[in-house]
Amino acid sequence: MEIEKNEMHEHNIDSSNLLPLLPLKNVAILPKSIIPIIVSRDISIKAVENALKTDRTLFITAQKNPSTEVPSSDDVFAYGTRSTILQFERMPNGPFKILAEGICRAKATHFSDYTTDGCAYVHYQDLPTTHMEHTVELEAIWRELCNAYTTYTKLNDKAPLDIIAGIKTPQDMDYIADTIAIHINNLSLEDRQILLELPNLKKRMLKLCFFINKEIDILKTGQRIHGQVQTQVEKNQRDYYLHEQLKAIQKELGREDQSDEIEALKQKIKTANLPKEAKQKVDAEIKRLEQMPPLSSEAVVSRNYIDWIVSLPWHKTSKDTINILQAEKILNKNHAGLKKAKERIIEFIAAKKFSKQLHRSPVICLVGPPGVGKTSLARSIAESMGREFIRISLGGVRDEAEIRGHRRTYIGALPGKIIQAMKKANKLNPVILLDEIDKMSRDLHGDPAAALLEVLDPEQNKNFVDHFLDLEYDLSQVMFIATANMMEHIPYPLFDRLEIISLSGYSEQEKLAIANEFLVPKNLKEYSLSKKQFKINDDVTLRLIDEYTKEAGVRQLDRLLAKLMRKTIQVLLENNKNTSISITKELLIKWLGMPFYKKTSVSKKKERIGLATGLAWTEVGGDILEIETTALTGKGGLTLTGQLGEVMQESAQAAMSYIRSRAKDLGLKPTFYTTYDIHLHIPEGATPKDGPSAGITICTALISALTDNPTKPGLAMTGEITLQGRVLSIGGLKEKLLAARQNGCDTVIVPQENFDDVEEVKKEMSLDGLTIVFVDNMDDVLKIAFIKDPFSKKRHHTKTTKKKTTKKIKS
Ligand SMILES: Nc1ncnc2c1ncn2[C@@H]1O[C@H](COP(=O)(O)OP(=O)(O)OP(=O)(O)O)[C@@H](O)[C@H]1O
Ligand SMILES: [Mg+2]
Repeated sequence: MEIEKNEMHEHNIDSSNLLPLLPLKNVAILPKSIIPIIVSRDISIKAVENALKTDRTLFITAQKNPSTEVPSSDDVFAYGTRSTILQFERMPNGPFKILAEGICRAKATHFSDYTTDGCAYVHYQDLPTTHMEHTVELEAIWRELCNAYTTYTKLNDKAPLDIIAGIKTPQDMDYIADTIAIHINNLSLEDRQILLELPNLKKRMLKLCFFINKEIDILKTGQRIHGQVQTQVEKNQRDYYLHEQLKAIQKELGREDQSDEIEALKQKIKTANLPKEAKQKVDAEIKRLEQMPPLSSEAVVSRNYIDWIVSLPWHKTSKDTINILQAEKILNKNHAGLKKAKERIIEFIAAKKFSKQLHRSPVICLVGPPGVGKTSLARSIAESMGREFIRISLGGVRDEAEIRGHRRTYIGALPGKIIQAMKKANKLNPVILLDEIDKMSRDLHGDPAAALLEVLDPEQNKNFVDHFLDLEYDLSQVMFIATANMMEHIPYPLFDRLEIISLSGYSEQEKLAIANEFLVPKNLKEYSLSKKQFKINDDVTLRLIDEYTKEAGVRQLDRLLAKLMRKTIQVLLENNKNTSISITKELLIKWLGMPFYKKTSVSKKKERIGLATGLAWTEVGGDILEIETTALTGKGGLTLTGQLGEVMQESAQAAMSYIRSRAKDLGLKPTFYTTYDIHLHIPEGATPKDGPSAGITICTALISALTDNPTKPGLAMTGEITLQGRVLSIGGLKEKLLAARQNGCDTVIVPQENFDDVEEVKKEMSLDGLTIVFVDNMDDVLKIAFIKDPFSKKRHHTKTTKKKTTKKIKS
C-alpha cells in the first residue's frame, strides 16, 4: 500500500479517482453484468491483488487489440466500467479466478504508466446515465425495445423474457437496457463498446433496438437456411436409408429366394408334363421372370400365371367306374322317388359310357322348383361315376369374363370359373355342375351365355380358350350338368343344347317318404340323436308338411325337422334324463307356433257369383288362383288388376270374344259388352302372374258375373282358351293337382289334351278324393262349372227379371 501511494505521488495523480486497470481481451463489461474472469497476465494479477487490498474496485476496460500483452493507454478503450470483485479464488500457481460486477460506466481520464510491481492505474470519471426523464418518447423507445427483445426471445430461447415485465421507471429501464444487452448473445465487442459509451438512455435504447433487430434478422435468416439445409439433409438421408433397406430386403428375400423359387417352378413344370404349347408358354414366361426384379408387380403376375398353368390338370383323369347297377344303387341311396328322372339319368350315364368313344354327348339340365334335389342329384351322378364333383354357381353372373377369365393385362386378373373349377377338380374329367343356369344375366361386358355355349359345345370345347391362360384347354372329357328353376328363363341358344330332365314338386306322400327315409335319419345323425330319443309319426309329419310348409321341394320341411330336433335336445338336456320325445300335434304348436298354412278352402266360399278358382304353377310349386270379376252397368270398359302379365291379359280378351260369340246362348244381349263395365281382379296383387292356363277360369268368372250365376264350390280348373272356345293343354299339372288337393278342392277341370299327363301323375301320387274332368271346349267347362245350367232358356228368363230388380235398387 505504502509503495503504491508513493508511486502515486511520484506520478502526481489524484488518488481519490484512481483505480487499478484490468484490461480485458475481447470483452467489454457493461454495468450490471457479472462475469467470471480468469486473471492470468502479470499486470492483471497485480491489478486484482491491489484492488483486493483496498475496496475491491477496479477499472475494467477492453483492449482494442486482444494480442497486445502489455497494453498502453492507446491500446485500451477509454470508456470502461467501474467494477467490484465479488468473489475471488487464487489458484496455486498465481492466477486468479474472480467474479466481477460492473457498477457504473466510467471514462479513463488519465492513464498512469505501470508501477514497479507491474500494475497500471487510471484516473477515471463516472458516467452516470443521462436523459432519464420519463417522456412519451422514452416510453415509446422502451416499448420498441421490449417488442424487439420479445421477438428475440422467441428466436433464442435462452434469453429470459420475464426481465422486461413490470418495468415502469426510467431507472428500471436503464438497468434493464443494460441487462438486455448482456443477454443478446452475439453482440460484438464493438457493439458492446458502443453501448458502453452511451450514457444517454434514449440513445442507448435506440441503438440496442437496432442491434437486436439486426440480430433477429440474422437469426431468422439462419433459421431459414437451417430449414433448407435440414430438409435437404433429411431427404438425402431418407433416400439413402430406403435404398439401403431395399437392398437389404432384396438380399434377404430377393435374389436368393427368387432363384430358389424359379428353381422350384422349373421343377414343377418338369413334373407337370405339360402339353407342347403350354410348355412353350411357360418356358418363355420363366425367361422373362428371371429378368424381372423379384418384387415388381410384373413378376408377381408372371409367377401367378406360371402357377396357374402348372397346377391345372393336363393329363390326370379319374377312372370311370360306370356300372349301371352301381349307379342306380347310388341314386336310390341318396334320393327317394324321382323315378322318371332317375331312369333318364341312368340312361344317360349308360350312353355316356359309349359316347366316350364318340367324344360327344348331350348336356343334361335338371329343371324344377327349389329344393327338389337338383343339386344333390347332380352330386349323386358324379358319385355314381366315380368322378370329382365341382359346382359352379351361375346365379347373378353377368360378365363373360366370369366364365372365360380376364386378360392378364388386368391387375389381379384370374382365370374364369371354368378353369378355376378344373384346378379345383385336379382331374380332366370331373362332373361340373352349372347351377342355376337360368339366373344368368347379361350386360355391357358381353354375354356369359355365349361363353357357356362354347364350353358346352362338344365341337368347340376341345380347344377352350380362357382369356387369362391364353392357351387351348381341353374340356371335352368334362361332364357338364346344368340346373334351372324355370325352363323359360334359360337363354335359348343354351336351351337348344341341353337335354332337359324335369323334376316336379313332391306330393305329400312323396314328401312323407323323403322325410322318413332321408331327412329324419340325416338330421338325427347330424344332431347325434337316436331313433329312440326322437320319434315322429306319419300323422305328425303330414301335418308338418301340410300346415307348416308350402313348397314344392323339401327344404323347409328339412329345416323344421332340424328345429324340432334342436328343441328335443334342449328338453333332454334340461331334464337331464335319457327320456325320449315323441312329437305330437300339441308339441308342434308349442314349438313351432300355430300352423302357417291352414287348409282353409277359399274355393269353398259361399258367395260365388263372379268367382272362379284356377290353378297356377309357380317356381315354388302349385297354387290356387281365385279370379274375381264384377260387371256393373257402364259403358263397356274392361279393367284388369292384380299384376297380370301380357299373356294373361290376352287370355281375358280372348275370353271376352268367346263370350260375345256365345252371348245369345248365354242369354246375354248382343250388345251386352257396351252396357257393362267389367272389372277382373286376381288377389295377392303384389305377385305378378302370367301364363295362358287361366283362360278358362277367367272366362267362367266373367260369365258368372255377367249372368249372375254362382260357380260350384270345391271346383278348380286349368286350361288355355281360344277365341272359338277350344280348351288347350297346359303344363305343371302335378303341382297344380297337388295345390288343388291341398286347398280342399274335390273336382278339377283339366284339358282333354293333358289326359296322358294325368295318367303320369297318377303313377307318382294318388289322386284319391279328387275327381278329374277332362274337357276340350269351353261349353263343356260351363256345363260343369255352374250350379245352374248357363245355357238353359228358363234361367235366362229369371235372370232378366232379377236384373231389373237389381237395377231398381241401384237407381
Ligand atoms: N328325392 C329326395 N330324396 C332325398 N332327399 C331329397 C330329395 N329331394 C331333395 N332332397 C333333399 O332336399 C335338399 C335340397 O335339395 P337340393 O339342394 O338338391 O335342391 P335344388 O333342387 O338344387 O334346389 P335349388 O333350385 O334351390 O338349388 C337336399 O338336402 C336334398 O338332399
Ligand atoms: Mg340347387
